[in-house]
Amino acid sequence: MNQPILRASDLVKTYRRGTAEVHAVDGISLEIAPGELMAIMGRSGSGKTTLLDLLGCLLRPTSGDLAVDGSSVIGASDGELAAIRQARIGFVFQEFNLIPALNAVENVMLPLRYGPRRRDGQARARELLMLVGLADRVNHRPSELSGGEQQRVAIARALVNDPGVVLADEPTGELDSTTAADLLAMLRRLNVERGVTIVIVTHDPGVARSTDRVVRLSDGRVVTDARRGDGAWRAALDGEGEREGGALARLAARIAGRAPGRV
Ligand SMILES: Nc1ncnc2c1ncn2[C@@H]1O[C@H](COP(=O)(O)OP(=O)(O)OP(=O)(O)O)[C@@H](O)[C@H]1O
Ligand SMILES: [Mg+2]
Repeated sequence: MNQPILRASDLVKTYRRGTAEVHAVDGISLEIAPGELMAIMGRSGSGKTTLLDLLGCLLRPTSGDLAVDGSSVIGASDGELAAIRQARIGFVFQEFNLIPALNAVENVMLPLRYGPRRRDGQARARELLMLVGLADRVNHRPSELSGGEQQRVAIARALVNDPGVVLADEPTGELDSTTAADLLAMLRRLNVERGVTIVIVTHDPGVARSTDRVVRLSDGRVVTDARRGDGAWRAALDGEGEREGGALARLAARIAGRAPGRV
């Protein structure tokens, strides 16, 4: 196997609130190989965003190790971490996080401000906007774009530094199902044609189904790590066996007017 782009070893992130401790990520080991397209699932509060932020070097773990391209980043300074993010990692957020006063090209070029100067920045931004199907929207501001278009600008921005890996936290959460499906198809194309490694946090089994690997979290731990074709693949998509599943099914039955236990 190729050297993993990201390798988490017994990663822990514990938040302290007064005397209370929240084990947001509670001992996760995970290898992500170059070229993977994978989903991270799990119910609300299971640690998905925390894990993504750890993998993206936005958060420092309480303990454990994270290696990017085979090198541990645990001892890195803040500046070194910023340089690693800049060079290797692209982020896409649920709320797009575009700058309202900037047009699409300027938004895509934003990460270039923090790295080495590139004279081809503007051309690069336009090329990426073309790639995500927005060639005719380059001068539009976010308020002049639909939700799906804004998210495509955000994806172009995540790609502007040629990252090894794109980490997307519920990128389709704000989109209707057709727009979400288009976006997914686009991410898949980037993955296949450009070899970009993509990690998508999602609640949507339809989104997860279109990836090649699903990692499911519960209480900050990995409970399933399944690849397409594995026996566990279907169960990983459905979250079978999760405590919430039973509770949700009972609630759905109650809402449907049937007594619990007699579904
Ligand atoms: N800054 C923080 N301080 C204290 N606790 C936190 C902090 N950030 C997250 N947590 C807690 O850590 C746990 C995991 O949070 P996280 O945001 O990773 O969950 P998630 O799986 O992304 O949930 P969602 O699907 O709702 O986005 C939650 O119990 C949350 O309350
Ligand atoms: Mg989250």
